[in-house]
Amino acid sequence: MKDTKISIVRGDITQRAVDAIVNAANSSLLGGGGVDGAIHRAAGPELLAECRTLGGARTGEAKLTRAYNIRQAKFIIHTVGPVYGQHGGREPELLARCYTASLKLGAEHGCRSIAFPSISTGAYGYPVAEASRVALAAIGHFVAEHPGVYELIELVTFSERDERAYQTALRERSGAPPRSGPA
Ligand code: APR
Repeated sequence: MKDTKISIVRGDITQRAVDAIVNAANSSLLGGGGVDGAIHRAAGPELLAECRTLGGARTGEAKLTRAYNIRQAKFIIHTVGPVYGQHGGREPELLARCYTASLKLGAEHGCRSIAFPSISTGAYGYPVAEASRVALAAIGHFVAEHPGVYELIELVTFSERDERAYQTALRERSGAPPRSGPA
């Protein structure tokens, strides 16, 4: 059974050729700015039409739609990250739930590859150094519990700062010594 490849990539998540692209949405699931806006722009108006049928989502929950004009993907998985400081210290648990719920939902639909944005680290203010560690821990736990379900899990970062944070978090998980030099 092939191991799951976990990779940190830099770029626009709407361009990733994976079975499922994860959207950092808000609880209405009716679009917004940031990566939510980019995904709705790329997928087109049919995505919003399907989202209107979903009845929103709670923080930590994930819901699936088709990908419409994002033709290289099969599905979009919409998940609602925690707003940093608004959940009484439960932010790490809720953020981890976004990754786990999205991975489970994608696997239920036969996805073998999935791309995540840096959930909650933009408008929702989650410090990326902490968020990346929570994300990689949740993904690592899922992969350990479900070996071979996914071939590829991508963390798509939109800035060099975020890319470095996720690379550091991935290195820490693989036990490699932290790199010296600028964090
Ligand atoms: N591809 C990949 N990553 C992107 C893209 C893109 N096209 N556009 C933005 N990002 C990155 C941001 O740089 C940030 O690192 O996605 C990360 C998440 O930032 P936000 O999109 O602001 O998401 P979040 O912090 O979870 O806040 C969600 O913002 O857009 C609204 O409707 C959304 O209300 C919700 C809130």
